[in-house]
Formats: sequence, C-alpha cells, structure tokens
Amino acid sequence: MPVRTIVTAEAPVLRQKAKRIKQFSQSLQALIDDMFETLHAANGVGLAAPQVGVSLRAVVIEIPADDETGTPAQSYVLCNPEIVKSSGEDTDDEGCLSLPGYVGEVTRAAVVTVKGFSPEGKPVRVKGEGLLARALQHELDHLDGVLFIDRLESLEKLRRVGEAEEEAPGS
Ligand code: NI
Repeated sequence: MPVRTIVTAEAPVLRQKAKRIKQFSQSLQALIDDMFETLHAANGVGLAAPQVGVSLRAVVIEIPADDETGTPAQSYVLCNPEIVKSSGEDTDDEGCLSLPGYVGEVTRAAVVTVKGFSPEGKPVRVKGEGLLARALQHELDHLDGVLFIDRLESLEKLRRVGEAEEEAPGS
C-alpha cells in the first residue's frame, strides 16, 4: 500500500469535476487503501481521490480519537457521494492538504447527511456534525473541483500558519 503524492493547488485535476465510479473493482479498493496510507502519512482528516491525481468520485475521512469522551477514531469511505440533507451553519478554520501552510474561516452546514457507496458497491449513509460534517463537505467539494479558498469571504481571509503554530486539520 504505497503512499501517493498529494498534488497541490495548481494541479489541473483539482479543478476538474471528478468522474463517477462505475466499477467497484479491486483497483478501486487499492486506490482507497493508498488514500488511507497517504492520509495517515500526512496527518490529515480527509482526502479526495483528485488530491492524489485520480479524477474519480471517492473520498476517505478519518476523525481522530477523542480522548476526552473516549471515542475511538472513526473512518469513512464514500464512493459517488452526494449530500442529501444539510442543516444549520457553522464557521470554523479549515485547511487542505493540497494547500499546505494555509488556513481560513469557512462557513458550512453544521449537520449533513451523505449517501454513497462502499468500495464494494454497497449503499452507505453517513450523518455527521462538527468536524465530520466539515470534512464531508470539504471532501465532496474536491470532487467538483472546488477548494476551500473558493468559499472564503475573500482571499484576504487566508492566513499563513507556521510549523510552530497549531494548524487546522488538513483535508
Ligand atoms: Ni482539501
């Protein structure tokens, strides 16, 4: 399971509408495995296939364990995902593994329900709030060629974060 290279903002694949997955094959499973490896290596929360240069509608998300509540890490894989329900509003800092070193405040729905398919082609439904809701919306945006910087009030709201500062979770 090799770690793949994460492409950065200037890569054209990040601005394309990714293709629907038609075959739930072993090569799709291999891609998903590589995406998780890549996500872990980058210490990120979420990754979309276009970020590893593959124009397909697949995303992986891993919400870290919460030691305060004792909640273990939660992993999600969604193929051909679609938001079917969203409510509320939440504004928070957001970053992206394809834009390393930058964060900005983005307003998104507070709660979303997403339906899609597992890598085996079985229907999946995920309801998320908090970080999961934000990650779902951020990753699904990647499938339509949208980056979080497109959702900032203005580019002046983009902030540089140093190595020493605490970074918003990248996805
Ligand atoms: Ni991203």
